[in-house]
Amino acid sequence: MSNIIKLLPDHIANQIAAGEVIQRPASVVKELMENSIDSGANHIQLILKDSGKQLIQVVDNGKGMNPEDARLAFERHATSKISSGEDLFNIRTMGFRGEALASIAAVARVELITRQEGEELGTRILIEGSEVSSQEPAAALSGTSISVKNLFYNIPARRKFLKSDRVELRHIIQEFERIALGFPQIEFSLHNDDSELMKLPGGNLKERILNVFGKNLGDKLFPISETTDFLTLKGFAVKPQFCKKSRKEQFLFLNNRYFKSGYLHHAVKGAYEGLLTADEQPSYFIFFDIDPTLVDVNVHPTKQEVKFQDERIIYNLLRVTIRHGLGKHQLTPTLDFDLERGERLIASGHISDHAPNAASTSGKASPSPSGGSFQPSAPRREKEDGDNWAQIFEGIRKDLTEQPGADQMKLETGEKKEVFSGFFQVLQRYVVIKTDRGVVLINQQRAHEQILYEQFLKSIENEEGTSQNLLFPKTIEMAASEAALLQELVPDLQKTGLQIEHFGGNSFVIHGRPAIWTREMEEEEMLTEILENYRIKGEYRDLAKRIAFSMARSLRIPGKKVLSETEMSVLISKMLVEKPHLDLIHKKTVVTLDEEALSKLFKS
Ligand SMILES: Nc1ncnc2c1ncn2[C@@H]1O[C@H](COP(=O)(O)OP(=O)(O)OP(=O)(O)O)[C@@H](O)[C@H]1O
Ligand SMILES: [Mg+2]
Repeated sequence: MSNIIKLLPDHIANQIAAGEVIQRPASVVKELMENSIDSGANHIQLILKDSGKQLIQVVDNGKGMNPEDARLAFERHATSKISSGEDLFNIRTMGFRGEALASIAAVARVELITRQEGEELGTRILIEGSEVSSQEPAAALSGTSISVKNLFYNIPARRKFLKSDRVELRHIIQEFERIALGFPQIEFSLHNDDSELMKLPGGNLKERILNVFGKNLGDKLFPISETTDFLTLKGFAVKPQFCKKSRKEQFLFLNNRYFKSGYLHHAVKGAYEGLLTADEQPSYFIFFDIDPTLVDVNVHPTKQEVKFQDERIIYNLLRVTIRHGLGKHQLTPTLDFDLERGERLIASGHISDHAPNAASTSGKASPSPSGGSFQPSAPRREKEDGDNWAQIFEGIRKDLTEQPGADQMKLETGEKKEVFSGFFQVLQRYVVIKTDRGVVLINQQRAHEQILYEQFLKSIENEEGTSQNLLFPKTIEMAASEAALLQELVPDLQKTGLQIEHFGGNSFVIHGRPAIWTREMEEEEMLTEILENYRIKGEYRDLAKRIAFSMARSLRIPGKKVLSETEMSVLISKMLVEKPHLDLIHKKTVVTLDEEALSKLFKS
């Protein structure tokens, strides 16, 4: 019988290898930018057409390649960065596998133009599906430019799987940000079609973070730093009162390379223990500098996972350093752990137990009941400051006047109607209603969110959102990653009454706000929060629902709040009498305890 095993031709082997490294335009961006970093460039430009589907070009002013190296760069396992097996355990460059360019050239049309400083002429190479179609001397700037056109042109199945331009652009921006954060001293820019999405001058880490994520992050961060025999740890983390609900701003770097680690993330979260609510996430930008012989970055083809020699030590060090940073900046009550958890939260200035009631919004944190062993050092939770919660009910209050008198309301909590005879609030969180058959409990925050959700959803679906015009239109500048998402949502946001227009680049103009948008919050900040909530509610496929959810989540009352009688009546009326549940956000907003349920509670 003849042999059946054959060696695959190079271009097929390359395509297979590309499957691991090159999954989408963002992977090409990552590989090309990392090569530019390894080339010693201090200026790197990324130019896209159609969010990378037509063109991804990276131009650098690094050391360039001579004609032979330029040709060799596209061979598999061709690298200038390591030469022996031992080198694999002493990696100081971003690349080392020698397969990125070969993989890219197997699945796209590539043009490379490169010149080394001191040489008169450079080299231009065209390569398509691993075949070099031309190589010639060419005039060129010093450095390297690589253009990758029509990614996956020869693998229709892969091309078909690419997502919309907006989604691909978001992935690209994410990779771009990770690299840009890792190398703040390098100047970067990003263009898509004809607009400049980011321009980042070289600077220090703090400047880079603010340039990427917006200047208003500035006051929200505190520095962390620690040095031991074998590592340096530095960076920034966010003060607890500014923690958000999304995990978008969580970055770990090892020797300037972005990496992911659920384990170390857990260490960071652990440092914030007692300072965050369950759904809040700290933002952090943490850099480990470690002797490369003590780590392995060759764990995964995309190099986003790393292995430390002793991860537990790193875990503990990270946790302690951040905890220490929080304490040093008086963000945690580090000295007195005897207090009840709730008191600690108050003392740290993070959560107030003194929810302003509807009539008074003085917003002063109540003194620590322990007798003041702490000075509340951080400002009160900003999101809740200055909001007049009473107003939030304004839009729905008028409905109440059209309801029958509160005490005559018939509740429909189950199949059957029941009559209720009074209500009150407990723990500043729940509305308790006495009925002829037992009690009904309403989780007030969830109920409020539900009511707003339904209002927003209705206004989106019927395109009837009323709007309050701003006296002067306001131009806002969003971070690039947010701008891409916001642009996608503009048409639906308009239906809620938010008069917003894209103004080119990352700018938007707001002419009016939805009438129910009564929280006193800067538009920019509110939009950021809406986008954040939009991201976390992944399960709603329907765009309108996701937007309604995001807006409701951003506008709902805080977890704890004293409600006035009227406000309670509104909740009761909306939740139990009208019950227009278009869709339930929460499984449990209302709990009914009838006689049977109550007596069950007493069975041991
Ligand atoms: N922008 C650039 N400037 C100078 N040389 C470059 C540039 N891009 C690539 N090269 C050269 O081409 C070689 C091959 O690049 P390629 O990305 O395929 O492999 P690598 O970076 O060595 O490893 P990896 O596959 O892990 O990225 C590099 O080792 C480098 O010598
Ligand atoms: Mg490389």
